[in-house]
Amino acid sequence: MIRFAIIGAGRIGQVHARAVAAHPEAELVLVYDAFEAPAKALAEAYGVRHTLDIDEVYGAGDVDAVIIGSPTAMHVEHILGSVRGGKRVMCEKPVALELDEATRCVDELGDEAGRVMLGFNRRFDPSFAEIHARVADGEIGQLQQLTVTSRDPQGPPAEYVAGSGGIFKDMTIHDFDTVRFFLGDIVEVSAFGTNADEAIKAAGDFDQAMIMLRNADGALATIVNSRTCSYGYDQRLEAFGSDGALSAENLTETSVRKASASQTQAQGPVLNFFLQRYEAAYSRELGVFIDAVNNDAEVSPNVVDGVEALRLAQAATQSAREGRTVRL
Ligand SMILES: NC(=O)c1ccc[n+]([C@@H]2O[C@H](COP(=O)([O-])OP(=O)(O)OC[C@H]3O[C@@H](n4cnc5c(N)ncnc54)[C@H](O)[C@@H]3O)[C@@H](O)[C@H]2O)c1
Repeated sequence: MIRFAIIGAGRIGQVHARAVAAHPEAELVLVYDAFEAPAKALAEAYGVRHTLDIDEVYGAGDVDAVIIGSPTAMHVEHILGSVRGGKRVMCEKPVALELDEATRCVDELGDEAGRVMLGFNRRFDPSFAEIHARVADGEIGQLQQLTVTSRDPQGPPAEYVAGSGGIFKDMTIHDFDTVRFFLGDIVEVSAFGTNADEAIKAAGDFDQAMIMLRNADGALATIVNSRTCSYGYDQRLEAFGSDGALSAENLTETSVRKASASQTQAQGPVLNFFLQRYEAAYSRELGVFIDAVNNDAEVSPNVVDGVEALRLAQAATQSAREGRTVRL
């Protein structure tokens, strides 16, 4: 049984608490937050203790592993503190707000870096993972193009945007990791950003973005992002190769379709947001982490993948601001 602490009791902390509670080899024992109300609420929901003292997490004798879901600016401090306290760590994306800070984290971790998991949950989505495995098996020949569509149902609150690092580091970071997962190292990034949401514009960020990337072999990827989407959480993937294509469409609650005089093939709404859409992915992600803890092994994706995704986010930010392709 792996005994867990959760750092940060907000939206994603609650998602992970649920996955831990559902896993037969995992047990939640401690919740930390900088504020009493969220810490207490999450701890009480699972009948465990909470603390506002981070050193209690680092030093807890009954905690084997820590899941970090605190605001991004705190990730590096919480990773280093937990590892120094002898805990295995799974940390949410992105590693940090700035590439320098993320690189410093990897440098300070040294040999431990490969053991710190990064929460790129989409690698564990059953459909995306199947496409990846079938591409790797050569089923569609040479992979030539990857198209990643990721649109959120509604934009985050302005205070979240302010501390998020911007759309490329906060949102597209998942898609940069997906592109690296399929295409490996990227050599060129060209990004465009614009606004349809006045509140996000006022906060100095883009809410719409499109990014093109190229790997060393010439394979291309396109990422399509929006912070808002009228029909819900739009999460799709297509891999196109010399011998065919593999694609995954949006998920709905059931597969029931309606035909009428005005519509055919009409289904219910797409699953609403990350908790519902990626529930299976979070659970499989936790399973991979628990296996690594049980086997005292390295894990993938890890904090080094987090740095590489952040490198792409930084390049995209620069590309969109300067209106040019960035070569890596
Ligand atoms: N993988 C995913 O699908 C996914 C989804 C959402 C968020 N995230 C990531 O998770 C992190 C948290 O995002 P969220 O949406 O849960 O945010 P949130 O605002 O809902 O929750 C953050 C929590 O951290 C607490 N907090 C504030 N300062 C803190 C500090 N110094 N130390 C510890 N806790 C502190 C807040 O009180 C709050 O409870 C971000 O890095 C975000 O990028 C990942």
